[in-house]
Amino acid sequence: MIKRSLFTSNEVNIGEGYDNIIMAIESSCDETACAIVKKGREVLSNVVASQIKTHAKYGGVIPEIAAREHLETINPVIAQAFEQANLKPEQIDAFAGTAGPGLVGCLLVGLNAAKTLALIYDKPFIGINHLYGHISANYLNTDIKPPFIALLVSGGHTQILNVKSHSDVEIMGETIDDAVGEAYDKVARLMGLPYPGGATLDKLAKDGNPNAYKLPEGKVDGYNFSFSGLKTAVLRLVKSFDGKDLPINDICASFQECVSSTLIKKVKMALNETGYNQAVIAGGVAANSEIRKKMFELEQDGIKVHAPEMKYCTDNASMVASCAYFFENSYDEIDTEVFSRVKNKVK
Ligand code: KG4
Ligand code: ZN
Repeated sequence: MIKRSLFTSNEVNIGEGYDNIIMAIESSCDETACAIVKKGREVLSNVVASQIKTHAKYGGVIPEIAAREHLETINPVIAQAFEQANLKPEQIDAFAGTAGPGLVGCLLVGLNAAKTLALIYDKPFIGINHLYGHISANYLNTDIKPPFIALLVSGGHTQILNVKSHSDVEIMGETIDDAVGEAYDKVARLMGLPYPGGATLDKLAKDGNPNAYKLPEGKVDGYNFSFSGLKTAVLRLVKSFDGKDLPINDICASFQECVSSTLIKKVKMALNETGYNQAVIAGGVAANSEIRKKMFELEQDGIKVHAPEMKYCTDNASMVASCAYFFENSYDEIDTEVFSRVKNKVK
C-alpha cells in the first residue's frame, strides 16, 4: 500500500545531499522490514515480514533461526518495497540500515544489505540506532517537531527520553532489569498465554478489575524503572491459586494498572522538569490500550500527546528511514559495525 502525506515543507536543512528519498532496512529482531520514505515523513512504501509464527512455538525469539529467516526474506522484502513505491534503486538518494541494538546475526543481514545497495548505486550509507528509530516513528505522516518527552516501550527497551532536537536525545532513565514488553510477555507466559503475550494480556485486562490486587511498583530513584519484582509478585499470586479458578482478567488488569501508572508517573516528572508541553510514545508496547489512555489523559493538563500509527509502533523500516533523514549523528561510515547493546548508558 502506498501512503503519501501532504507534507511538503523543507523544515530542516540537515540531510543535504541525501535529503529526499531514503530506503531503509530493519532486521534487529524478528521482523524483516524495508521502506522508502521521502523527506523523513512521507512513507512511499512500508513492507514488514514478521517471524512471530516461527518463534511462537518456542515461546520467544531464537536468534539463530531469526537470522536464517532474515536471509531468506530480505531480497523479496526489498523488491516489494521498490514495487510499492514504484521506484528504481537509481532513484534512491541514500540507503540506511539498523546498526543496533539488537541480535547481532539478525542485524548483520539488514545492515549488509543496505551497505551493498549503497555501494552498488554509489549512494550514501547511513547506520541507525534502532531506539532513535522508534522515536522517529512519530515524524511519519505528521508535522511533529522536538522538543518533547518520549516514552519508549518495546520488547527490549524501556526508556524516558528528552528529545531536545532531532539530533540531540538524552536518555533520562531506563529499566534496570526487564523491559516493559518483556515483563508483559513473561507474565502472559506464566498464565499460559501464547507468545508474544502482551496484546492478549491487554485484551484480557479490559474485562478485569484493575484494583483487584495491589501489586508492588518497582521502587527506583529518578527516571529509572524496575519490573522484575512485579513479575515475581504476579508469579506468586498465580501460584497461590494452585491452577484452580485463576481470576485471569483481574490479574491482567491489576498488572496493567501497576505498569501503566508507574510509566505515566515518570513521564509527568520528566514533563515537569523540562517544562515541555509535548509528549510522544513509541515502541511495540505503545499499542497497549491502558498506557495509551493514560498518556492521552495528559492532554487534560495542556500537554500535546502523540502516538504513531500502530504499524509504525512495532518494528518497521519507515521509522529507520525517517531517523536517517532527521538524525544527524548517525553512523555514516560504510565500515560501521553492528552492535548488540546501547553504548550511551544513563550516567
Ligand atoms: O517494538 P516491538 O515490536 O519489538 C521490539 O523492538 O521489542 O515490541 C514488541 C513487544 C512485545 O513484547 C509485545 O508483547 C508487546 O510489544 N506488545 C504489547 C502490546 N502489543 C504488543 N504489550 C502490551 N500491550 C499490547 N497491546
Ligand atoms: Zn523495536
